[in-house]
Amino acid sequence: MRLYINIDHVATIRQARRATEPDPVAAARLCEDAGADGITAHLREDRRHIQDADIIGLRDQLRTPFNLEMACTEEMIGIAERLKPFQVTLVPERREEITTEGGLDVTRDPGAIEAAIGRLKSVGIRTSLFIDAVPMIVERSAWLGADAIELHTGPYANHPHDPRYLAALRDGARQGASIGLAVHAGHGITVRNVGALMTIPELEELNIGHTIVSQSVFVGIAGAVREMRRAMDAARVAS
Ligand code: PXP
Repeated sequence: MRLYINIDHVATIRQARRATEPDPVAAARLCEDAGADGITAHLREDRRHIQDADIIGLRDQLRTPFNLEMACTEEMIGIAERLKPFQVTLVPERREEITTEGGLDVTRDPGAIEAAIGRLKSVGIRTSLFIDAVPMIVERSAWLGADAIELHTGPYANHPHDPRYLAALRDGARQGASIGLAVHAGHGITVRNVGALMTIPELEELNIGHTIVSQSVFVGIAGAVREMRRAMDAARVAS
């Protein structure tokens, strides 16, 4: 299972003071040294955390694959075409939200999503759609031409003891893989809830952000990445 670390909230701390530190690129490199398989950052339309210069720094200085999260807008597609990150994950975005809330609504403007995927793929970018684990949405993601789906683990993370949410992820992962999609997952994952996700065989990649940055206050960012990797490995050995 690949572990991608989302470093948005390193930039959140910096932007709280409109300062120059902490630098998310430097943090990302420490995550890589500590065993992250890739780095994720979300360039939001309102630039509330990650800035355009961060994206360039990440693209130039990372040694592992860079996953750019972004909304499906002309501005963002243009940035991705120019910078060519390894992977783009399309996410829904609303200005007033605190974090990404639901998955991408692939039924609302499927033509725009399909066209964006086509443009990104034509310059060699791997494409992923952040979606809810709902059968119809998984199926449509394949129709739209995505290489991968990222299943929204937020509902599971909010209800870790309700088996329905884990079952939905398990079913979504199985369905996605069966129709040729690579399956990722993310949102709200912590060392406490990651274990059950490790028992889903089709899952290839996890995107984890907030808990890593919050734990870094106590153990440093490298320590937080290592704690997460240990929790993942322990679950794999146990299962
Ligand atoms: N995946 C996606 C698509 C996200 O938008 C986020 C949050 O930025 C994450 C994963 C990471 O979620 P968290 O910060 O809760 O670990």
